[in-house]
Amino acid sequence: MREEIFSIIVLFIIIGTPFCGAQECEFKEKTYICENINYEFPNFFYGNYPLRCQDCQIQVFDHKSFPWENNLNSFNLSFTGLEFIGQNSFVGFKNLQYLLLQNNLIKNISKEAFKGLNQLYELNLQENKIRIIEAGFLKGLSSNLVNISGNFLEILPEKAFFGSQALLILDLSKNKLKQLNKDSFFNLEELEHLDLSSNQLCFMPLGLFKHLRGLKQLNLSQNKFKKFNFGTFTGLKNLIYLNLNKNLLTLFDSSYLLPLMHLNKLDLSSNAIYNLDANDLMLNLPTLRAIVLEDNVFSCTLLKNILQFFKSKYVEVVNDNPRYEFFNINGIACIDGVILNSISLDYFLKKSQEDAQLLHTYCQ
Ligand SMILES: *[C@@H]1O[C@H](CO)[C@@H](O)[C@H](O)[C@H]1NC(C)=O
Ligand SMILES: *[C@@H]1O[C@H](CO)[C@@H](O)[C@H](O)[C@H]1NC(C)=O
Ligand SMILES: *[C@@H]1O[C@H](CO)[C@@H](O)[C@H](O)[C@H]1NC(C)=O
Ligand SMILES: *[C@@H]1O[C@H](CO)[C@@H](O)[C@H](O)[C@H]1NC(C)=O
Repeated sequence: MREEIFSIIVLFIIIGTPFCGAQECEFKEKTYICENINYEFPNFFYGNYPLRCQDCQIQVFDHKSFPWENNLNSFNLSFTGLEFIGQNSFVGFKNLQYLLLQNNLIKNISKEAFKGLNQLYELNLQENKIRIIEAGFLKGLSSNLVNISGNFLEILPEKAFFGSQALLILDLSKNKLKQLNKDSFFNLEELEHLDLSSNQLCFMPLGLFKHLRGLKQLNLSQNKFKKFNFGTFTGLKNLIYLNLNKNLLTLFDSSYLLPLMHLNKLDLSSNAIYNLDANDLMLNLPTLRAIVLEDNVFSCTLLKNILQFFKSKYVEVVNDNPRYEFFNINGIACIDGVILNSISLDYFLKKSQEDAQLLHTYCQ
């Protein structure tokens, strides 16, 4: 009797345990959808279509996770809880164009993790937990875009991108970068677009841009720059667009921009610049066609002179969010009187708004 009860219990346990191999992939609407994968993907015919992992919980992805030759053009492992990517994990993905690894918990990427991905357009690593990248972590990868936005990087090591190919767009925004090495961007001669916005940068080592001769767009918005040096921007001959929005600039010395031979658009908005020599700016940047200036601490007299000058030079002053209910010229806030030293932008805007509210006293 006891044995019978025992065997019934065992039977219940066996039937009640979900079949561990119950990982399925199906082909639906021109996409492979694999569900409930936790390590290895099933051996299946994977043709020239995207694959998406749905309701998957994959902690580790390594060379045994997907050893099958395939023709997939997109592989989506986002939202799978992924923490670690091992060496040579994607060598079978000869045809892959999009690798989506965003919104995971990736902390650590092995050297040569992406080796063999020869025709990628996008490597998406944004919104992970990456703190440290090792120099050469992209070795053997060819991808036009690499997105590492929304991680926890504090330092970019020397030759971080060594061994990668064809990189045109690099997004490092929304990290905690405080420090760049003068050789951080080694091997990125072809890069056209670099986003370093929303970091903690207050300094760029001289020589940083010597490897970025092809750069066209540089976004340094939302950092902590107070000033630059002669030489900071040396090497950026081909830069067309520079964004310095939301930094801590007070006196802007445009002669630091002399190396930029083709700059077309400059964004200086939302700093606390109280003195800007527009004439000097045009001498340093004769190619300038558009400038963004709003939300600096300008007196109305200075602002008027600046705007008149740019108008005479046919430089467009772009302002997408005009401040109508402030003391303003063309929607750019200003205050009456002379400003001789830097004041906080918050105080300035409050004052400009209060001054505007007092205008009705003209009727008294
Ligand atoms: C990637 O997969 C996730 C989770 O299944 C899904 O939410 C997301 O829309 C997919 N992205 C693309 C571009 O297919
Ligand atoms: C990354 O993970 C590997 C293997 O787990 C480990 O050997 C290595 O030390 C880790 N690197 C960092 C920077 O955490
Ligand atoms: C990188 O990913 C973020 C999402 O976190 C997105 O907003 C951004 O546009 C992406 N960058 C590029 C260059 O596609
Ligand atoms: C520059 O970065 C800021 C802040 O992340 C973002 O709002 C803006 O769209 C970026 N501009 C360009 C042209 O990439």
